[in-house]
Amino acid sequence: MAFPFLQQPLFLKSCELKNRLVLPPMATEKASQGIVSQELCHYYESMSHGGYLGLIFIEHSYVSPEGQASPHQLSIADDTTISGLSRLVEVIHANGVKVIAQINHAGSAASPNVTGLDVFGPSAVLNPAPAAKRHGGPVLPKTLSLEAIDQLVQNFADAAVRAQKAGFDGVEIHSAHGYLLNQFYSPLTNQRTDTYTGSNLEGRTRLQTTICREVRKRVGHNFLLSLRWGACDYLEAGASIEEIPKAAQIFADAGIDLLSISGGMCAYNRPDHTEQGWFAELALAARKAVSIPILLTGGIKDGQTADRFLAEGKADLIGIGRAILHDPTLPKKLLADA
Ligand SMILES: Cc1cc2nc3c(=O)[nH]c(=O)nc-3n(C[C@H](O)[C@H](O)[C@H](O)COP(=O)(O)O)c2cc1C
Repeated sequence: MAFPFLQQPLFLKSCELKNRLVLPPMATEKASQGIVSQELCHYYESMSHGGYLGLIFIEHSYVSPEGQASPHQLSIADDTTISGLSRLVEVIHANGVKVIAQINHAGSAASPNVTGLDVFGPSAVLNPAPAAKRHGGPVLPKTLSLEAIDQLVQNFADAAVRAQKAGFDGVEIHSAHGYLLNQFYSPLTNQRTDTYTGSNLEGRTRLQTTICREVRKRVGHNFLLSLRWGACDYLEAGASIEEIPKAAQIFADAGIDLLSISGGMCAYNRPDHTEQGWFAELALAARKAVSIPILLTGGIKDGQTADRFLAEGKADLIGIGRAILHDPTLPKKLLADA
C-alpha cells in the first residue's frame, strides 16, 4: 500500500470513515443570503467526487445573525436553512463521503458593515486575530451579559439540531481562528472575572463545554460531535502549548468524539513556520493527554508527510485544505486503488 496509515479506516462511534484523509472546513463565500446555492452544491460535488476522502467538514455556518463573519457565509441560524443544507449532504453522501457541519459565531470578529448589528465579545477588548481585521475591523466589542451567553448556548444547540435534521453525520463547534469561542479561550481577549473568567482554564473552557453538553443532550449519543480548537495563540501572553493537556482533558470530559487542532489568535497559519504540519506539536500534546481521535491540519501537502504524521502517532486524522482546493484530484491521486 502506498500510504498504509492514511488508508486505514477509522470508526467514530458507529460512523466508519474509509480512510484518514479529511477536507477541513474552508469558507467559499458561495452562499446566497446564507442559503445553499447551486454553485455551492457544485463545489462540494467536485470536492467529494469519486468518494476518495474519508470525511468532509462543511465551511463554517453562523448560528445567529450577529455572529455572521462575512457577506456570503452559510447560515444555520434558522429553520429555513435546513432544506438547502440537506441538499449539500445528499450531494456528498451520494459520493460515499461522511460529512460534518461546522457551526460558528464570529463574536468580536464580526463587523457591523456585514451584519448591521452591534458587535459582542467576552470582554471589551480589540480582537488581534486576522479575521477581525476584515470588513473594516477590528471593532471594540460590547461585553456579553450572562443572559446573552445563555442564549448563545441555545443558539449553538439549535443549530446542531438543524444540522442533524439536514442529515449530517455530525457537527463541529468552532473554537479557533479568533472567533467567539476562541475569544473566550484566549487570555488576550477574555478578561472576564465571572464563571467564564479568563484567569484560569476552567473559566476559559466553560462556554465550549457548556455548549458541548447542551448539544449532546439535544442530538443524542450517536450524532458525532467535534470541537475545532485554537489550541495555541503563538502570541505573547496568549494561549500556550503548556495548557493543552489539561484543556484537552476538560474538552474530552464534555463528551466530544473528535478534537480538531488548529491555531487560535494566529488563525490557521503559524507565525514564521512554513513546514508541513506546523501544528503537529499541538496535536501531539493533545493526543498524549486524551484518548479521543485528534485531527491535524496546517500546511500538509503530500501523502508521504500525511502518512508519516499518522505513523509517528502525532494524529489520528489528517486535514489537507488548500492543496486540495488547488487540485481537487489530489485525494484520488493519494488514495485511488487503495
Ligand atoms: C479560504 C479558506 C477558508 C477557510 N475557512 C475556514 C472555516 O470556515 N472554518 C475553519 O475552521 N477553518 C477554515 N479555514 C482553515 C482551514 O480549515 C485549514 O485549517 C487551513 O487552510 C490550513 O490548512 P491547509 O494548509 O491544509 O490549507 C479556512 C482556510 C482557507 C484557506
